[in-house]
Amino acid sequence: MKYNIDELEIKIKNSIHDLGFLVPNVTLNPSNRPDLGDYQYNGAMALAKKSHDNPLNIANKIVDKIKEFPEFKSVSVANPGFINITLSDDFLISFANDSLNDININYDLGINKTIFLDYGGPNIAKTLHVGHLRSANIGNALNNLCKAVGAKTISDIHLGDWGRPMGMVIQEIKTRYPDLAYFKEDYNGEDVDFNLTNEDLIELYPTATQKAKENEDIMEESRQINKELQAKHKGYYALWQKIVQVSVTEIKKLYKDLNVDFDLWEGESDNFAYIDELFTYLYDKNLITKSDGAEVINIKEDTDKKEIPPLILIKSNGAVSYEATDLAAIWERVHKFKIDEIWYIVDKRQELHFTQVFRAAYKSEIVRRETKLIFNGFGTMNGPDGKPFKTRDGGVMPLSDLLDSVTKVCETRLMENITENREEIAKTIAVAAIKYADLLPFRNTDYNFDIEKFTDLNGKTGTYLLYSCVRMNSLLKKACEANINYSHIKTLSTSNERKIILAMLDLKRIIKRSFENYSLNEICEYLYKITNLYNNFYAENKVLTEKNIDIRSSWLALTKLIFDNNKYLLNILGINIPEKM
Ligand code: ARG
Repeated sequence: MKYNIDELEIKIKNSIHDLGFLVPNVTLNPSNRPDLGDYQYNGAMALAKKSHDNPLNIANKIVDKIKEFPEFKSVSVANPGFINITLSDDFLISFANDSLNDININYDLGINKTIFLDYGGPNIAKTLHVGHLRSANIGNALNNLCKAVGAKTISDIHLGDWGRPMGMVIQEIKTRYPDLAYFKEDYNGEDVDFNLTNEDLIELYPTATQKAKENEDIMEESRQINKELQAKHKGYYALWQKIVQVSVTEIKKLYKDLNVDFDLWEGESDNFAYIDELFTYLYDKNLITKSDGAEVINIKEDTDKKEIPPLILIKSNGAVSYEATDLAAIWERVHKFKIDEIWYIVDKRQELHFTQVFRAAYKSEIVRRETKLIFNGFGTMNGPDGKPFKTRDGGVMPLSDLLDSVTKVCETRLMENITENREEIAKTIAVAAIKYADLLPFRNTDYNFDIEKFTDLNGKTGTYLLYSCVRMNSLLKKACEANINYSHIKTLSTSNERKIILAMLDLKRIIKRSFENYSLNEICEYLYKITNLYNNFYAENKVLTEKNIDIRSSWLALTKLIFDNNKYLLNILGINIPEKM
């Protein structure tokens, strides 16, 4: 027999069918009156309405039919027709032991799809700022969640490595160092001795864009350079490659610190290689029209409640648009891979852009209707005052500075007992604090950065979770050192153990809803809840010195279950548990 709520619901449904009531499904809801039962079934009321009978009558009939199930300790009816169910200890113990043997049973939803995830989206030569944090955190966690539920995934960082700003940066370098080989007529692709660092780029980018904005000659020259770059002018292209390489090295370091990774490191430049092919296709389909010197695709639909402007492929100044690049990205992706869905984890303010791109992709049949294009917009992380996050001098807050400042707080406040590996552990804790706080609100909502709150050891925080997990782990290690054996749960001796396992029973539904809502908030809440329940149990019982051997080994097995499961969930969120804390 399989012990989980889904199976139990099916079993009850079959019994209700035997009574002649053809309910499509049965849902057991966790009870909000635990004194009356663990779960509640409310279907009798609807059935009574349909069959013009009394709900109590129907509830009693159902209870008569199911009350002998071995899964139940007790079943009862409450007015006006609720059925309250208390699960037997055998059921809870068997379910817990199944989960202990194979954590996967609570995660694998048999999702048999290939999902392509587009997240990260940092821009070359520009500082990664706090806005890029959420795309990386949420995207990486959703990627892990997809894998946990059984899907195949392909993740792509989608670098912003193409477009006019690249022309501006090259223009500025050319003005400063006109003698560089890149700018010589006869440049032949050889290595150039030009020492360019990320710090240089961080300074160059804003200077170059500012100058171009203020001076039309510089702007025109940048445009020209960009055009030649896109036509693979030897010198500009080689310099651009150098800029990308310097920038990507830095970006990789930061993402590694954040425990975020990608299968593909493609950029807009890679998509650009498909632009000609794409345009030929769109011209052949007669989808492109001219409008005020631009080339556009009309994407209005009859049912539109608000105006959806046409998608601009080529701007009136001749430049290929951001929209066109994203359309080319879709083109490339569906030609290269067999994909069922593409998820975009991007700032919610880009929603219109994606509405336009998706409509154009379907209308032009670049993707089939069955291929789902999904925009998963996220809200803004604001500064502590609720306003856009800025540095003291008013600039955008670099992501690395944010990470450093949280790491410092963790190191000075949370690590008194740690002498070895301090730097690494502080970073692990800081990443947990940042990520948990970032994933806790529903994806779409804004929130404020609050260093005190995020690192509070006693709050709903990543630090609290890590601290609790480290303690579970150390209990298990002590048992191991003392040669105390345990393998599975044999008995439930306190009410807190029941509560913990009942919470475990909820997990599969939470995983399902998280996957369906493309959000990690419920998983974050769940981790907090189950960890609290475990900590209540821990505070009440002295596990290692318990005299009754069956009870002691059951408690250790339960601890292992919660530790393994928390570790698995934290891993989905992209959070590691340090050895010590
Ligand atoms: N680089 C873009 C930005 O910083 C985000 C890219 C989002 N992904 C996409 N496929 N357009 O705004």
